[in-house]
Amino acid sequence: MAETGRDIQVAKKLLQSGELVAVPTETVYGLAGNALHTPAIAKIFEVKDRPSFDPLIVHISDFTQLGKYVTDVPDAAQELARHLWPGPLTLLLKKKSIIPDMVTSGLATVGIRCPNHPLTHELLSSLAFPLAAPSANPFGYVSPTTALHVDEQLGTKIKYILDGGPSTVGMESTIVGFGEKRPMVHRLGGLSIENLEEIIGPVDVAIHSRSNPLAPGQLESHYAPRKRVFTVDLERAINMIDFEKVAVMSYQKDYQVPHQYILSPSGNIHEAARNFFAALRELDRAPVDLILAEFVPDEGIGRAINDRLRRASAK
Ligand code: TXA
Ligand code: MG
Repeated sequence: MAETGRDIQVAKKLLQSGELVAVPTETVYGLAGNALHTPAIAKIFEVKDRPSFDPLIVHISDFTQLGKYVTDVPDAAQELARHLWPGPLTLLLKKKSIIPDMVTSGLATVGIRCPNHPLTHELLSSLAFPLAAPSANPFGYVSPTTALHVDEQLGTKIKYILDGGPSTVGMESTIVGFGEKRPMVHRLGGLSIENLEEIIGPVDVAIHSRSNPLAPGQLESHYAPRKRVFTVDLERAINMIDFEKVAVMSYQKDYQVPHQYILSPSGNIHEAARNFFAALRELDRAPVDLILAEFVPDEGIGRAINDRLRRASAK
């Protein structure tokens, strides 16, 4: 068990001495270390058991810090940052040499974001360096949305978990890059395509189902619990299966089976997003052989949920 609390001074001291601390954000909890200090970066990869080709996101306290770490901020990126930070949005921008190559896995761009959480904002504002932080889960497993989730899996490997309560968005940040043509969404996330397009007009979406050098974390199989997950039409499947042995994850409907998690009984897509990773964890622990899940409405943040569901079920 790692020590868990709300003490920013404890978190600050550990980070200043090159240690890792789990920190809350509005999307998911992050496993944070000094982004400018390669031994801390190496620890992040080690604790997560993360392949070195999968780059980390760098977290800053506010927009004014951006210029310290990137060379060039295209207009569209400026606009997005001004309107949507702090928030669940990561921008891929050309890095300055102050950001170690280890952070970006050798890429010329760095993923950078300003998280929207009061505790983590205070922590970042009190530090002289930004924080590199991937989601605080073992590589490939379900992302953590509470301090307890972090403790369950990484508790023996880190010293402190800054507890900021359950993440309010529940999906990781939306990742946007700026290539030759239109801005490109590399990961669907907490901020919807609709939100982005309101600000900068049409964007392209490049969501890869397979390993992709530009967004290596977008592996086909990701966010996966230990149990097999199948996406099905629950309405049709419900009469055909022995539900003693199967768990069900539904969007809104109560299928009245022994092991089920209803993401949002009232049909609120944001509530469903907040509950999604906790649901996967809970059903993973249920005494069943497999998990059947249905897709949620494919709009807004629902697209990010469906993306996670596809990856959780690809094995
Ligand atoms: O919401 C979030 O973004 C959370 C919280 C903690 O901030 N962090 C997070 O980090 O989801 P992680 O490491 O689990 O996922 C980061 C993703 C990976 O898929 C990685 O490949 C991609 O971001 N990424 C990071 N830097 C990149 C870059 N320079 N180019 C392309 N993809 C990048
Ligand atoms: Mg992750």
